[in-house]
Amino acid sequence: MNSLSHRFCVAPMMDWTDSPCRVLHRCLTRQALLYTEMVTAEAVVHGDRARLLGFDGREHPVALQLGGSDPARMAQASRIAADFGYDEINLNVGCPSDRVQSGRFGACLMREPMLVAECVAAMRTAVSIPVTVKCRIGVDDQDPEQSLRALIDACAAAGVSVFAVHARKAWLEGLSPKENRDVPPLDYELVYRVKRERPHLTILVNGGIETLEQAADHLRHVDGVMLGRAAYHNPMLLAQVDARFFGGAPVDVDAAVEAYAEYVAQRLAQGSRLHPLIKPLLGLYHGQPGARLFRRHLSEQAPREGAGIAVLREALSFVKQREAA
Ligand SMILES: Cc1cc2nc3c(=O)[nH]c(=O)nc-3n(C[C@H](O)[C@H](O)[C@H](O)COP(=O)(O)O)c2cc1C
Repeated sequence: MNSLSHRFCVAPMMDWTDSPCRVLHRCLTRQALLYTEMVTAEAVVHGDRARLLGFDGREHPVALQLGGSDPARMAQASRIAADFGYDEINLNVGCPSDRVQSGRFGACLMREPMLVAECVAAMRTAVSIPVTVKCRIGVDDQDPEQSLRALIDACAAAGVSVFAVHARKAWLEGLSPKENRDVPPLDYELVYRVKRERPHLTILVNGGIETLEQAADHLRHVDGVMLGRAAYHNPMLLAQVDARFFGGAPVDVDAAVEAYAEYVAQRLAQGSRLHPLIKPLLGLYHGQPGARLFRRHLSEQAPREGAGIAVLREALSFVKQREAA
């Protein structure tokens, strides 16, 4: 039984949705489901697990995204991840980079729905937490009307009930991963139709959602939305998610920022450097008075040797002064 809500999710993003970023997002919303960066099953099995999988208890609910296509390896990696305490394991069937293709996983698996189904079946046998799939609508010359349904139906037959669909095809040749996030065009209607045809499945739409108004529009057609770049570049929008989409209490932004500052202080005391802790904050006051000074102060001062919590406190004073003025 899946008790996690997928109504509002923050997408997996390599180099961006690391643990500090997720802690910041969690300070701003108690309800959104947060996804990690993709980690390959091979890395989980052979690599430094504490570094790859370690996370902060306050991130819950948090889903680990795995990449891979060997069912036994995927099962092994899922078991290890479940032992770390993740709330869900998500399989990446959407990432188009060359590195990922050569390992035969990510978006190229849109061509191999039966193999994906074998993977999720093995993963589901290995763990009791939900196993979900993030996919594209198709790749290259595939007909998305067929490729999306084929992938979803194969995985649903293997017991998966939650799908996050990045509503555009991926081009595996000739476009960089970055270009693949903006072209070819999005086809939200296809995702809506697939949801209507399969009402028992939980379908999330992803891709190009920039505002909470747009998110609310999508929610008239599907069960959930997944925001990537908008959540990262403008994390403040997360502060309205609980009240708007979950009937929860409005989040006090100052208290949320203070909670994150306390987390930063704790991590510094444990020996972390300031810079990686500051990175997810840079977009925080996006568009507000004092934001440029805030950002500049952090960008210039945080990378310096020995930079401490005072750098963050000073930066916050720029936005606070402007607010008070
Ligand atoms: C910097 C960056 C890294 C990404 N890394 C991943 C990843 O590890 N796994 C994945 O499934 N998608 C990844 N994506 C794709 C996003 O999850 C999302 O599908 C895509 O950005 C479209 O959503 P958006 O328009 O809301 O950003 C990444 C996107 C960005 C911008």
